[in-house]
Amino acid sequence: EQLINIAIDGPAGAGKSTVAREVASRLGFVYIDTGAMYRALTYEALRHQADVHNEEAVMNLLKQMQITLGSEADTGLVLVNGKDVTEEIRFSEVTGNVSYIARHEQVRMEMVRKQQELAKANRTVMDGRDIGTAVLPEAEVKIFLTASVEERARRRHEEQLQKGMPSDYESLITEIAERDRIDSEREVAPLRKAEDAIEVDSTNMTAEEVIESILEIVGKKA
Ligand code: C5P
Repeated sequence: EQLINIAIDGPAGAGKSTVAREVASRLGFVYIDTGAMYRALTYEALRHQADVHNEEAVMNLLKQMQITLGSEADTGLVLVNGKDVTEEIRFSEVTGNVSYIARHEQVRMEMVRKQQELAKANRTVMDGRDIGTAVLPEAEVKIFLTASVEERARRRHEEQLQKGMPSDYESLITEIAERDRIDSEREVAPLRKAEDAIEVDSTNMTAEEVIESILEIVGKKA
């Protein structure tokens, strides 16, 4: 059986995790949410009141951390040293700081090492910002999933309202745009489309349509 990897990159809130999780489940692949790893480290840094801009302080925490991502049965589960932080890593304080943590070169080297290790053992669908460009440059299928910033904010807004969480559409636009700016402007492995990635603009597509178009691209490669 061929070990194939599917890389899904793109800006914040483009629906990567929803789509990647479902594509993985339908293909029987393992889904790896690399953003959750940067979020877990950010959560630890905030909890320890470490300066997110201080690479050495952040690296010291990372060295002491065991990050575990849930397996097929419990996808979405994120553990740090055995403690369940699945909900905490989605808190707005984490979201607002994660892009600063993700700028550090040593942090990225260590995360990429862990991610490559995970991809070696399984057929994976991995989502993030630098999967096609840096983590799995040899991935057989590379997708760059985008949507307009207004549409991404609108989806996030509805999601939060549905969960009964407070939400402000205008601030979501600002937050998402700012995170994309920091992720795109960083020196190490910035967010960008790999040359051989296929761009899928989901602005006017449903999740199911995006999933099917990715499965079709995968089918052509197999
Ligand atoms: O995917 P998600 O929005 O959860 O990612 C959170 C943040 O983690 C991103 O905004 C980015 O700063 C960082 N990240 C990254 N490289 C990845 C995945 C996420 O820099 N491969």
